[in-house]
Amino acid sequence: MQFSSIIDDLAERGWSVQRAFLPSHETLRLAEECRRREAEGAMVPAAVGRGEGQLVHEGIRGDHILWLEPGQSAASDLYLQLMDGLRQQLNRELYLGLEEFECHFAVYPPGAFYKTHLDRFRDDDSRCVTAVFYLNPDWQPEHGGALRLYLGEAASQDVAPLAGTLAVFMSGDFPHEVLPTAVDRLSVTGWFRRRAALPLSA
Ligand code: OGA
Ligand code: MN
Repeated sequence: MQFSSIIDDLAERGWSVQRAFLPSHETLRLAEECRRREAEGAMVPAAVGRGEGQLVHEGIRGDHILWLEPGQSAASDLYLQLMDGLRQQLNRELYLGLEEFECHFAVYPPGAFYKTHLDRFRDDDSRCVTAVFYLNPDWQPEHGGALRLYLGEAASQDVAPLAGTLAVFMSGDFPHEVLPTAVDRLSVTGWFRRRAALPLSA
């Protein structure tokens, strides 16, 4: 797997969008797993904030999530392995010192969105690079649901959540939002972290 265009984009401007990041049959397998876990009732409403301050707040974000763990399935193991390879290359070439990658499936049901936010908490700056991989094979512009990245100086970039697309950006640098979706919107959303989160009591 060649990660060099991601690395070049991150070095130059801090964000990158790759089409067809995985072969389509691998993307489909991940989408099927996400659907299956959802049908089993394994997804939970995503919370906002961290630690004891965590709240489910559908006025801010309306997705349902399930964290990926190693050994869950061949499809998710392959994804975790691939992202570990990307983590190592980011460390080799950009000296980011990333220690781990964490990710979850996310399903946004019709009408759901995620208001503008940064992927760094005020009390925890361990999330360093965000990587969102989309799982929607039949995405149409009228479905909405774009990732909107705010690049500064009134510039923004919309990314359609079409299956196979990977969006990567520096977590602390780009406010972003998920525009309201008209149909189920599936993804694997993850973060490369510098170190474990601070103790919750800190
Ligand atoms: C997030 C997020 C973006 C997306 O979960 O923090 O911003 O496109 N997701 O799903
Ligand atoms: Mn985010």
